[in-house]
Amino acid sequence: MVKIAPSILSADFCNLEREIQRVQTADLLHVDVMDGAFVPNITLGLPVVRSIRKHTDMQLDLHLMIDKPVRYVAQFCEAGADLVSVHLESDHPQNIQKALDIMGEYGVKKAVALRPITSPEAILPYIDQLDMVLVMTVEPGFGGQPFMESQLKTITRVREIIQAHNPSCDLEVDGGINPSTARRVVEAGANVLVAGSAVYKAADIPGRIRELRGQN
Ligand code: DX5
Ligand code: ZN
Repeated sequence: MVKIAPSILSADFCNLEREIQRVQTADLLHVDVMDGAFVPNITLGLPVVRSIRKHTDMQLDLHLMIDKPVRYVAQFCEAGADLVSVHLESDHPQNIQKALDIMGEYGVKKAVALRPITSPEAILPYIDQLDMVLVMTVEPGFGGQPFMESQLKTITRVREIIQAHNPSCDLEVDGGINPSTARRVVEAGANVLVAGSAVYKAADIPGRIRELRGQN
């Protein structure tokens, strides 16, 4: 079954409680944390995650687009994350492993994220312990960008690696997902779809979530 993770980056930040309510038929809530260093944009941080946690029972899927996330992973786990993704490009391998170990100590699900330039094989040192791999289908930093077709082969390869080493691991894709690209990434092997603009710009949000799942 395909899971949908609406990204609140496309929501109205002045009305977050209402905006989260609007997507509650989805499976996860995707929260994009950006630091203005790993990516050229700044979004939200710990206080906002803590407030979101107080107002929803949805699973919080935190996508950390920050340099050296090991510095902050414990605090994001304490803030209420259910799952945390750290980018493989954001630090040395020892620190990526340390960040995953900290998630494990908190009982939070572990994920690594890949920029479009990063080879699928980069997940190999971590794959056995992961709950999810996040494949970016745009350059991280902004919502509303067009889907990168070239990432379909990365999704296919990551799915092969998952099937060979850890078949219960989820494969999430993020960037430019709409009903038509959703079909193609699912065919390539994705089973968790992040969607920001495609969800929040829809006139009928629950209908769009069903459509992205392939239920319509
Ligand atoms: C981009 C973020 C995405 C973004 C997706 O760096 O990681 O989660 O919100 O937005 P759409 O679905 O509009 O491409
Ligand atoms: Zn994201």
